[in-house]
Amino acid sequence: MIGVDTLKAIHFLNQNLPVALPTETVYGLAANALNEEAITAIYKAKNRPFFDPLIIHVANIEDAKKYVLNLKGNALKLAQAFWPGPLTLLLPKKDIIPYLVTSGSQYVAVRVPNQATTLSILQQINYPLAAPSANPFGYISPTTAKHVEEQLGNKIPYILDGGECTIGIESTIIDCNDEIPKILRLGGLSITTIENVLDIKPILALNNNSNPNAPGQLDKHYSPRKPMIIVDDITTYLAENKNKNIAILSFGNNNLTTEYPQFNLSISGNLDEAAKNLFNYLHLLDITESELIITQLLPNKELGLAINDRLKRAAAK
Ligand code: TXA
Ligand code: MG
Repeated sequence: MIGVDTLKAIHFLNQNLPVALPTETVYGLAANALNEEAITAIYKAKNRPFFDPLIIHVANIEDAKKYVLNLKGNALKLAQAFWPGPLTLLLPKKDIIPYLVTSGSQYVAVRVPNQATTLSILQQINYPLAAPSANPFGYISPTTAKHVEEQLGNKIPYILDGGECTIGIESTIIDCNDEIPKILRLGGLSITTIENVLDIKPILALNNNSNPNAPGQLDKHYSPRKPMIIVDDITTYLAENKNKNIAILSFGNNNLTTEYPQFNLSISGNLDEAAKNLFNYLHLLDITESELIITQLLPNKELGLAINDRLKRAAAK
């Protein structure tokens, strides 16, 4: 059921049931991170393998310190600059965090979401919320309550509607445990923004099947059910493939034919707007009559990097 009743959401959370909550990045499927029954219910509802660990969500830096060690140095600098916001830090966990949350790792991922209703819930409860994106494992992430209802509606008791997510792609995950910070997942906080706060340049250590730092970052992820391909140039592809039943995911001001269904991530070429529209348009493209989604990579800068990462995984076989 979709609703806007915060107390109802808290009621279910207190019963160790998973509830979908809005964040500024994507909707999360939240449950008590200190309770193994609640955590198991998240994995079950998402059909997520237990090797893929969960991010915990807290109200502020003080609360984070109840659950993690070493929130200091670069990690603290980043937390002070970007929380609440689309930044997830990987830090050594305290014993109170069950290994079920971290898939056996000594490190737990933690963030403070920037969404007023969800923040108020985190302030009212006395436990952190484990929350992966509220989609079935491997499928497109949800940026509206309706996306969650379509995908998981029959598996969870409540979906708290907080409107459309303002950022639209997941948080950036950073590991500051060594001297040089590592970016484990590109996301809603751009690398340039991060670099402005650190004295030292972070390195990209994106996770894939061969680098299991963040085991959830599989090569194939965020995927529509329909086949999707990335082409070098949409106009050329259309000229060469006239009979195909195609739908287009485009970006920027273009003169593409109106023959095919087309969703333009940002006509003005704005990468923030494109991030916000990405998952919604993938959902819409997935329900057109077309048999194939074609798209082209965006400029490789700012949030374009994170969007391209998701397009490549969505198109992966
Ligand atoms: O923006 C976000 O981060 C959203 C919202 C709901 O907060 N959450 C989200 O969660 O994207 P999820 O589960 O869809 O993606 C979390 C990623 C996965 O790739 C997972 O492998 C990685 O974070 N991760 C979580 N805990 C980890 C840990 N202890 N060590 C390494 N990677 C971890
Ligand atoms: Mg996810």
